[in-house]
Amino acid sequence: MSQTIIAIDGPAASGKGTVSKVISKKLRFNYLDTGKLYRAIGAKYLEGYQPIAAAKSLEISDLDKYDLQKPEIAQAASEIASIPEVRAALLKFQRNFSQQLPGAVLDGRDIGTVVCPDARIKIFLTASLEARAKRRYIELRKRDKKINFKIILEQIKERDVRDQTRRSSPMVAASDAKIIDTSELSIKEAVDKVFSYIQTKI
Ligand code: CDP
Repeated sequence: MSQTIIAIDGPAASGKGTVSKVISKKLRFNYLDTGKLYRAIGAKYLEGYQPIAAAKSLEISDLDKYDLQKPEIAQAASEIASIPEVRAALLKFQRNFSQQLPGAVLDGRDIGTVVCPDARIKIFLTASLEARAKRRYIELRKRDKKINFKIILEQIKERDVRDQTRRSSPMVAASDAKIIDTSELSIKEAVDKVFSYIQTKI
């Protein structure tokens, strides 16, 4: 049997990063946060690099060079993520990663639809805009006390629209993905729900 690929997609702060990390540890699978790739290119773009060239020359060490959590980097990431050549340049790396034994969890926006359309397990995590903005606000406030809730909410809303409406690999649940709404769930409840679903498929 081929190795198991678990694709976890969804909008900003839907819980996919936290859930994916725990699930990959439980299963001892490799884990790739594909958003980091786009964020690193976004960071390079803010430094003046041309996004396509930055995507083509991206190195794994670039992921540690920047403070990728910054909101301005998230915004730049979603801008460069709509460029088809940027996405194409990242495909091979993501697919190679997904093929490594013993199995892999990848989280992003287009894993179940474009990067790994044959993944055995596909999950689309979602939550209300307010719930997601609140989570991101709490997360970012730990680093910056001046952060403003309304601005965070507007930035997430803007990113949602851009990610959903771009022509190249828009954010959408794969037709065979299990949709899980985490608005009312704690981290533990979300992990338990996702893990129970995975166990029915593995
Ligand atoms: O953590 P959060 O959900 O806020 O964002 P992220 O997963 O780090 O992704 C940052 C941005 O990269 C997103 O808004 C998308 O525009 C883009 N992205 C993408 O287009 N495709 C992916 N597979 C992952 C991220």
